[in-house]
Formats: sequence, structure tokens, C-alpha cells
Amino acid sequence: MRLLATKSIDLLREQAESETGLRRTLTASNLVALGIGAIVGAGIFVITGWAAARYAGPAVPLSFVLGAFACAFAGLCYAELASTVPVAGSAYTYAYATMGELAAWIIGWDLVLEYTMAGASVSVGWSGYFSALLSDFGHPLPESLASAPFRWCEASDVAARTAGCSTTGLHATGAMLNLPAVAIIGAMTLVLVLGVRESAWVNNVIVVLKLAVLLAFIGFGIAWVRPENWQPFIPPNEGHFGAYGVSGILRGAGLVFFAYIGFDAVSTAAQEAKRPQRDLPIGILGSLGVCTVLYVVVSVVLTGLVPYRQLDVPHPVGFAVGAVPQLRWMAPFVDLGAVLGLASVVLVMLLGQARVFYSMSRDGLLPEWLSRVHPRLRTPWMTQLAVGAFASLFGGMFPIDLLGQLVNIGTLLAFVLVCGGILVLRRTRPELERPFRTPFVPVVPLLGIASCVGLMATLPLDTWLRLFVWLAFGLCIYLAYGRRHSTLRTGEDARRLEAARARS
Ligand code: ALA
Repeated sequence: MRLLATKSIDLLREQAESETGLRRTLTASNLVALGIGAIVGAGIFVITGWAAARYAGPAVPLSFVLGAFACAFAGLCYAELASTVPVAGSAYTYAYATMGELAAWIIGWDLVLEYTMAGASVSVGWSGYFSALLSDFGHPLPESLASAPFRWCEASDVAARTAGCSTTGLHATGAMLNLPAVAIIGAMTLVLVLGVRESAWVNNVIVVLKLAVLLAFIGFGIAWVRPENWQPFIPPNEGHFGAYGVSGILRGAGLVFFAYIGFDAVSTAAQEAKRPQRDLPIGILGSLGVCTVLYVVVSVVLTGLVPYRQLDVPHPVGFAVGAVPQLRWMAPFVDLGAVLGLASVVLVMLLGQARVFYSMSRDGLLPEWLSRVHPRLRTPWMTQLAVGAFASLFGGMFPIDLLGQLVNIGTLLAFVLVCGGILVLRRTRPELERPFRTPFVPVVPLLGIASCVGLMATLPLDTWLRLFVWLAFGLCIYLAYGRRHSTLRTGEDARRLEAARARS
């Protein structure tokens, strides 16, 4: 029964109100910027090219539309939970308050796949654009220091005789380390340790720059699209699931879903928002809406500029403008915009992860040092350093396709649980004040669950296996540590609630 015990929402609210640990500095527009800062990154700048080239062809905008539906349903559910339980920790905290400790642990552990692995994936995308930028200025980095030492070969790679893939599984590529990926994670970790106010400021500037680059790409690029590149719009399927055709659009949706990840990171900043009840829904839904429109248009232009099969490169947007003589002047600007834009995504992902660990540690499920806040900087600096070390290990070693699929499956699972949480909470706590209410319950949460499970089903079996291994590993940690130290179990929660009530 313990495993189903839920955290008191009243305690969470009291804690959020009384805690002086984190500063409340973020406004609604900061949150929308935080959302866009988290959302627009390697998904549109890198994965779009790969999804078009290998799976969806010129129909990749349809993949974006499908992905947006799943995110919109999940986003509406996130918004209700974020406004009802405005505490740092995102889906983890919501699950604790609605479905119990075990579900909370599973989701918290699963969120590591989302935030840390997304931080790592985007650092790899950053490295691709950074290398391109250095080449633009005539100083290319040696390949062995700017690419992953390992790659994963799927059966289809072996069948297609992709270089270096003689058998399925992990293969050494001959590279030593993806040094730029490690460096960007180190730099962003430093910014975060120094303080959230500074982080929001850096993020705002970068958001403006990366939007400007994408809008310029659309504005100048549209004049040079060649409609024949969109023919056939849906290339015929090549015989197995995902290789173009309708299944390719679905598989593409499962991949470009990555491009939307991050709007939920807004909810992880609940404790730093000035007016969480009103501003969180604005932050989540506003940033999601802007990005959907942008992605569809950018992907239409991208596949119109060059034949889709050429887009399977580490920096497809920069590559596309470089391939059109009249647009070549834009290449360094696109590469620079991506370098800055992807850096801000790494920042928000690392921030999100630290906040989740902070909450899990405060609840006793992880060791106490992970929730220590620096006395002067007021940031959870130890967690931040640990997250940075972990993310750079993965970013430095593995390629983006391997990491990205893991991010997607982990995030989709978190979304499924969030949608489920709405259904549970409406039933168990109907009286709770909900500043934002998900419309058409239970239809929207059910559609959210169905669309996320549908996208998960398009991902390869290997990715599912990795998810299960990760969750099983997490369960061992929970049984060995978290279950015994949980503040819900030790009675600490009840004491905290009493103390908070006495104070107010
Ligand atoms: N949505 C983020 C990106 O595309 C994770 O980089």
C-alpha cells in the first residue's frame, strides 16, 4: 500500500509558499521564452533533416503536425497539473500527488532520459553546427575530436551496408571524443550554477537570436525553393516500416517529436515563477503554439531547397542554405544561430534535470546532498554539477540518433503518465482549486495517452529495450534506497506540514 501513498497536495503547496530556497523571479514572458529556449533546438536544426532523408521525405511537415497533436493534448494536461501543483519537479511531483510514490519514482527516473539525455543529444547537435561554423571560417576541427567514438548499427544499417556497420550493435567509429559536446555542457552547467536570474537573461537573448535566424531562413529561403524537390510529396514505401510512405511519416513523427520536447521544462520552474497559477499555462501552451507553426514552415522550406535525401548531415539547415548559391551568404549566420540556439536548449534541459533531482532528494528518494542549495548563489549547485558530468559523458561518447530516440521514448512515457494523472486527480480530488482546467476531460487526456503510445510504437525495439533496462535499474535503486528514506514514510512530511501550518 505504501507504494501507492500519495504526497499531500496541501503540503506541496505549503512548501512552495514557505520555502525560501529558490528565488521567485520568472514572469510569464520569461516562461514563454524559457519554453521556446527549451523547445527550438536540435529537433528542428538537426533531426528534421535526418527524419526527412531517411523516413518521411518531403512529407516531414506532416510528421510535425502529428507530433504537435500529441504534444498539445499532453500540454493541456501539463498545464492543469502545473497550475494545480505549482512546485518544482514537473511530472515527477504531479505523479507523487496523484498516483503515489512508486509511480512518482518511475516518472522521476524516466525524466532523466528526457532531460539529461536531451541535454546530451542537443550537445551533439551543437557540436555539428559548431564544427560547421569553424569550417565556415576556415578552421575545421579534426573529425576525431568532434564526433562520437561509438555508433549503434541497426539491422537496416547492416542491410544497407552503411559504413562501419558489419553487424548490429555498438561499434567504435575511430573518433576519440566529441569534445565540443562536452565543452558546451560544461559551459552551460557553469551558467546554471551561477544563478537562475542570470540564466533567464542569457536565455532571453538567445531565444530572440535563434528565432531571428529561423525567420530569416524562411524569409530568404522561400524564394529559392524548387517545387520539384517536393515531388513525390510522400515517397513510396521501400518495403519495411518507416522507410517512406505513410509509415515513414509516422516514424518521422516519432523522431521529430524531439523538436517539441521542452515545453514541459517550463513546469519544472514552477517554484521560480512569480505567479505560477496564471503564468505556467501561458508559458507551456504559448511556447508550444509558436513552435508548431515555425516547425511546419521551416520544414516545408528546408525540403524545398534541396532533395530530401541529401539532408542526412549533422547540420541540415546550414547545409541547405550552403547548397543554394544565392543563399550561401546565410550559412555562417544559420550556423551561428544554431550554435547559440542549441546552447540555450542544453541550458534548459540541464536546469530541468537539476530541479527534478532537487525535488526527489527533498522527498528523501535520492540522497540529501542533491537538494542542497548554495547559500549565496541560491542554486542547487551540487546536483547541477552531477547532472553536467553525467550528460557530458553521454554527449561526448554517443551519436544523436541513439540518444534522441531514448529521449523520445522516455518523454512520451512521462506524457502518458501526466495525462493519466489528470484522470486520477479529477476523480480523487475534484474539489481542488484548478486555476487552469484541461478542457474536455476525459477526452483530451485519453487522446493524449493514445497519441503518445502511438508515437512510442513507431520507435525501434532496441529503444524499447533500453527504456526497460533503465527503468529496471531505477527500480533497484528505489528498492535499495528511496523506499527506506522517503519523507512520506519517515513521517517527515507530516512534521513539515505541521510546521508550515504553525508558521502561517
Ligand atoms: N526540443 C528540443 C530540441 O529540439 C529538445 O532540441
